[in-house]
Amino acid sequence: MHKVINQEIKQIINACPEVGRILEEYNIGCVPCSVGSCLLKDVVGIHNLDPQREATLMYRLEKAIYPDRNVPKPVVDMTKKSAPKEITYSPPVKKLVDEHVLIKRLLALIPSVVEYTETSVKVDKNLILKCVDFIRTYADKYHHMKEEDILFKYVDDKAEIIQIMFKDHDTGRGHVRQAVEGAEKGNKSQIKEHLLAYRDLLTQHIKKEDEILYPWIDRQLSVTQVGEMFRKCSEADASVGDELPKKYERFIIELEEKFLEEVTK
Ligand SMILES: [Fe+2]
Ligand SMILES: [Fe+2]
Repeated sequence: MHKVINQEIKQIINACPEVGRILEEYNIGCVPCSVGSCLLKDVVGIHNLDPQREATLMYRLEKAIYPDRNVPKPVVDMTKKSAPKEITYSPPVKKLVDEHVLIKRLLALIPSVVEYTETSVKVDKNLILKCVDFIRTYADKYHHMKEEDILFKYVDDKAEIIQIMFKDHDTGRGHVRQAVEGAEKGNKSQIKEHLLAYRDLLTQHIKKEDEILYPWIDRQLSVTQVGEMFRKCSEADASVGDELPKKYERFIIELEEKFLEEVTK
């Protein structure tokens, strides 16, 4: 097993698809990942399972990979119930989680924006560009830049999970460029395709950050590093001013009211 845990996960799944199925049971979604060069030991480590669950998972993986091997069953203490873990974040990371909440409110509005666009006689270019402005300024410049320039620097930014996050940010920028082009040309299907793709991408991206990446980074930070990161994030926020997040929150509220009215008309 020692050799296998240092192998790339995609190679292991290719050789033994059962491994992918078992990992999915533990909510470890390696099968859909397009890269798959994480090592098995990192895949398990990053999900921070409780020791009993991790021992059972490793036992099942070893049995799947080496069906003929006599693998000793882990001793599971049945008296210990593993309660679902509540994630606690350090203050600077919690601030990033809170910013996700506003971004998710925009993502929730995208289907209504798309439907409105499809059913309007003429594309409301201004509406699309305002959504794009939120994405580019609040989600990308204000939020993603703190991740890229501050948070990710506290871990090995060559780590595959970080590379995937960078790639998601870039893919998102591509969808936004396409949505803008669609708005300029009045091309409804182009707007629909790329806004919905952006929504799917960011929904998964934020879930990965909230549930896996941020807790993983937090576990590696010393108290001094948390303090330093808090200062750097506060400075980054101060450099854009208090008004920016307030302005974009107002925009989301307006958009929610607009589409709530549409629904209740
Ligand atoms: Fe991100
Ligand atoms: Fe994020």
